[in-house]
Amino acid sequence: MSVNNLRCKECSAEFELDAHYYCDRCFGPLEVRYDFSGLDPESARRRIQAGPDSIWRYSDFLPFGQPVRDALQPGLSPLVRADRLAERLGTGAEIFIKNEAANPTHSFKDRVVAVALAKAQELGYTTVACASTGNLANAVAAHAAAAGLESYVFVPSNLEEQKLLATDIYGTHLVGVKGNYDDVNRLCTQLADEKPWAFVNVNLRPYYSEGSKTLAFEAVEQLGWNLPDRVVAPVASGSLFTKIARGFEEWIEVGLVDGALPAFHGAQAAGCSPVATAFAEGSRVCRPQKPDTIAKSLAIGDPADGPYAVARATETGGSIDAVDDEEIRAGIRLLAETTGIFTETAGGVTVGVLRKLAERGELRDGEKVVVYITGEGLKTLDANRDSFSLTEIAPDPAGFEAAFGQEVHV
Ligand SMILES: Cc1ncc(COP(=O)(O)O)c(C=O)c1O
Repeated sequence: MSVNNLRCKECSAEFELDAHYYCDRCFGPLEVRYDFSGLDPESARRRIQAGPDSIWRYSDFLPFGQPVRDALQPGLSPLVRADRLAERLGTGAEIFIKNEAANPTHSFKDRVVAVALAKAQELGYTTVACASTGNLANAVAAHAAAAGLESYVFVPSNLEEQKLLATDIYGTHLVGVKGNYDDVNRLCTQLADEKPWAFVNVNLRPYYSEGSKTLAFEAVEQLGWNLPDRVVAPVASGSLFTKIARGFEEWIEVGLVDGALPAFHGAQAAGCSPVATAFAEGSRVCRPQKPDTIAKSLAIGDPADGPYAVARATETGGSIDAVDDEEIRAGIRLLAETTGIFTETAGGVTVGVLRKLAERGELRDGEKVVVYITGEGLKTLDANRDSFSLTEIAPDPAGFEAAFGQEVHV
């Protein structure tokens, strides 16, 4: 068992492994600490390869002392080589798409929720909750249903209809708050002080965020136990981005993979870009913004892990860029046309930023670039509604001939 305790990211004060998320001394955020000194990399690799086809193959690197039960088994999503995308971008880099739409509720949030709910059950909670921009709500509702837990999910009431429907179906208490995500988050922080509930991204945040490390572990395994040279990933609160980096770092530290951290490139929507703005200003301070973007899943104006995301991008020679709504729509279409993968708006943001990196000449020939596509296009259908086209024809060969100018001989 490698998991040790919780530690403050700012002042290093240590705390027990319970539902605690901020430091009593300096109010800094807490994170899970491990002691990997007794871990032999060769036997760890064998345990991983013999493990389940899900995130639980990485149990040595997750915050549990015992095996956990998890009905939905997220993870091991495909890593697909995208040569035609690279060609369209005019780059000689090898582009790989990590397709997180292949998870049980079609986003990477299944990973973080599986970890948080396992911890909630270990700590004896019977009700779970979250503040969500949509995908987290989907995942909490589904995983709670699978585990037989009661759930309350809080979302901005103006979310995409597909995300609301795909959440309510699991029999959760779906609460639409009249406000933006930052209002929802503030309310949930107040409720977390009051209610005996496990809020996955409030009082269980240190555990929840650990789930995103598995996105680094899988990429290494799927690249034949090699590190990529670059990664491109979306940034909302910054948790996903920073924990992918932590995942690579842990495996380098324990000797499961050789090399240096990849360059980390973050992607935000221009209509909600506090982290990209801080990066551009050379500052770690992410001044809060009021979101106005079609990428609602990334619409967090006051990002908890923003300063740490800026630090990761800076220290790895990466960047954090923002793209506007038109670039997001174009990114969704470009990915679909070249790979057959239909992503939600967050993926459009990520591909939009990938395109910017290619245009700036930052992708070098032969280097491996992993692009994290974190959610499913069917959840944000409205984003591309205006560019949708249907060729309507009469139900006979002449109708087809007239529309497409191709002769049909019948
Ligand atoms: C599809 C998708 N991608 C990326 C993110 C960003 O996650 P984080 O808040 O960890 O930065 C979210 C957050 O909700 C999301 O729904």
